[in-house]
Amino acid sequence: MPTLENKRVLAPVPLAVLLFCSCGAFAQVQEKELDTPYVPTPQAVVDRMLDMAQVKAGDVVIDLGSGDGRIMITAAQRHGAQGFGVEIDPRLVQRSNEEARRLGIADRVKFLRQDLFSTDFHEANVLTLYLLPDVNIALRPKILAELKPGTRVVSHDYDMRDWRPDAEQTIPAPDKKVGMRKESMVYLWIVPARIEGEWTFELSSGGKARRTRLALQQRFQFVSGTVELTGQGDVPVSYGRLRGEELRLMLPPGALDRGPVELVGRVTGDSLSGTVRRADREVAHWSARRRN
Ligand SMILES: C[S@@+](CC[C@H](N)C(=O)[O-])C[C@H]1O[C@@H](n2cnc3c(N)ncnc32)[C@H](O)[C@@H]1O
Repeated sequence: MPTLENKRVLAPVPLAVLLFCSCGAFAQVQEKELDTPYVPTPQAVVDRMLDMAQVKAGDVVIDLGSGDGRIMITAAQRHGAQGFGVEIDPRLVQRSNEEARRLGIADRVKFLRQDLFSTDFHEANVLTLYLLPDVNIALRPKILAELKPGTRVVSHDYDMRDWRPDAEQTIPAPDKKVGMRKESMVYLWIVPARIEGEWTFELSSGGKARRTRLALQQRFQFVSGTVELTGQGDVPVSYGRLRGEELRLMLPPGALDRGPVELVGRVTGDSLSGTVRRADREVAHWSARRRN
């Protein structure tokens, strides 16, 4: 597998800045080791990352560790997106901002000299990463807690361990600067809504509504749980998946009638709602409210 060399390098700081700035906060930033060395993503891989994330006009894209700015610049130029990159190396920040100005997109794309670990990225609809595996893992709790459900996260070459990607692709990368294999992996995750807990579940069909208890557990986008059925007690949900706020659950026979049914719906905070389907035909409606 191609790898970034895990060398620890100090981010260079212009001498003039060092001579004239002695504030503690600045000293802390400039002395920080690079958490990932600078290696640019080949342009073909940048293009695929942004295509997999379906970047479009109006999206807010944030690149953590933005290097020469190519991901953000491509997102703005080819997809009409806006956003910013953060980068610890001041020369790369300057180069990226100059390039954005030269291309006439500096009103939509900015590069900030900032530590990616202290960056507020909750506004992103798309988060892009080409960082080392441990850095991805260190960022993972913040990604899951702070990004809106449905936000697309794309990573070049490194995954998120047991948070399995929603999609992945291998891309030829003949001009790749690291590794023996001249190809790259791109991983895509859709930040899942949080639905773990107890719900009051209602099924409506033929003018009648039935209420029962739904208990859901969640491991990233994978959902399991039980539904309480008359005469059967708590019966396991046979399949559950989240894609952002879109939820699919397969309920066992007995929930509506004798066959299994699929629930397709949407999460809106403490409410769930959608349609009940059998063999792709809508047969009922369902909703649920979170119990406190
Ligand atoms: C592998 S490069 C990726 C560059 C760019 N995103 C791309 O894909 O072409 C990682 C970048 O992260 C920057 N970096 C490393 N540690 C950082 C930190 N703590 N905060 C911000 N940037 C950092 C490095 O200087 C480097 O430019």
